[in-house]
Amino acid sequence: MSTSPYPLGLRLDGRRVVVVGGGAVATRRVPALLDAGADVLLVAPELTPALRARVDAGRLHWVPRRFAPEDLDGAWLVHVAIDDPIAAASVSAVAAERRIFCVRADDRTAATAWTPAVTRHGPVTVAVFGGGDPRRAMTVRDAIRDLLAVRLVPGGIAGRPDASTGTTGGRVALVGAGPGDPELITVKGWRLLTEADVVVADRLVPGLLLDELRPDVELVDASKIPYGPSRAQEEINQILVDRALAGAFVVRLKGGDPYVFGRGGEELLACAAAGVPVTVVPGVTSSIAAPAAAGIPVTHRGVAHEFTVVSGHLAPDSPASLVRWDALAGLRGTLVILMGLKNLAAITATLIAHGRSPQTPAAVVQEATTGTQRVLRSTLGEVAADVLTADLRPPAVVVLGDVVDALDG
Ligand SMILES: C[S@@+](CC[C@H](N)C(=O)[O-])C[C@H]1O[C@@H](n2cnc3c(N)ncnc32)[C@H](O)[C@@H]1O
Repeated sequence: MSTSPYPLGLRLDGRRVVVVGGGAVATRRVPALLDAGADVLLVAPELTPALRARVDAGRLHWVPRRFAPEDLDGAWLVHVAIDDPIAAASVSAVAAERRIFCVRADDRTAATAWTPAVTRHGPVTVAVFGGGDPRRAMTVRDAIRDLLAVRLVPGGIAGRPDASTGTTGGRVALVGAGPGDPELITVKGWRLLTEADVVVADRLVPGLLLDELRPDVELVDASKIPYGPSRAQEEINQILVDRALAGAFVVRLKGGDPYVFGRGGEELLACAAAGVPVTVVPGVTSSIAAPAAAGIPVTHRGVAHEFTVVSGHLAPDSPASLVRWDALAGLRGTLVILMGLKNLAAITATLIAHGRSPQTPAAVVQEATTGTQRVLRSTLGEVAADVLTADLRPPAVVVLGDVVDALDG
């Protein structure tokens, strides 16, 4: 008897797949089935909370009892995810009678189908069978996943620039690079970066990410573009559009999240106006990550039920300011101020003048999540002076509120 499997990619969209069992194995198997579009019927007296949540969300059907042969009516595939060998064998027997392939979690030798170890990389799926040894399959899979994540053939792996969108012309991805630690970029952001032809990077993006680009990638340092701030933005928009229209896959890499004081919206609109397709990949924003890196949760049970992120780049009395500092002073929760060092004295004075207590705990986190991170703890009344004394510099995030002390022992 041959033990070599015959590899197939099952197209399960809209097709009935029965999963028998509602425990840990089913919890792991069901998401990939749903992702493949399968019409999943779960047969189990009880479910894990994760499966229950999917049932509640209407993502799959649940029959709350033990297996009965009619459960396989109309099924294309069955997963047996129970560890009772007698019950599992009876499901297998019904499946075999009906010529339905059956995956067995309890006994792979009794199964008529095996699930491989899988890694997905954008449009590419790699499935590995380990010759009967699941750990071997996972080891090989992990090695391939690392290889795919690091760098692949120039210009992407399945037709440039990114076959996941089905486009073959140029396009732009606005990618959040995270707050500073190069490991805080998302998996998707990292993948797109490895596929880029052109990378247009801001000053605040982690340098180590750029260090790992392929040598043939054109790197445009957006912080070096001359002219004033608005002119520079026009220039950046033009670079994105021109390169994409010339057929390149352009990654616009921005610190934190592209839509948090990142001007990502303007770039998206400029690309849209030129007919250039854009993908937006959110990033880990410094407004949450910087406090976290200093041991400060922006919310905490019983302490703060809200957090507000505000830009301090304009002084409170500036006619151009869109911020109601008087209203913010009346909030009890956490206030996170970005770009606020220059105007910190005026901001804190305004908050106090409108009623926020000068004793409110305050912290300033400079260059958060990097090797040069600095943290200053103070109070609303003192923080502006303390920042000057400590000579803290941008980029820094200011956090105000009781959460600053929430985790202190
Ligand atoms: C133009 S805003 C961009 C914010 C970014 N899009 C985000 O989501 O984090 C720049 C400001 O973000 C804050 N910032 C960004 N990275 C930071 C870091 N690693 N540590 C502290 N503050 C940071 C600083 O307030 C800085 O002046």
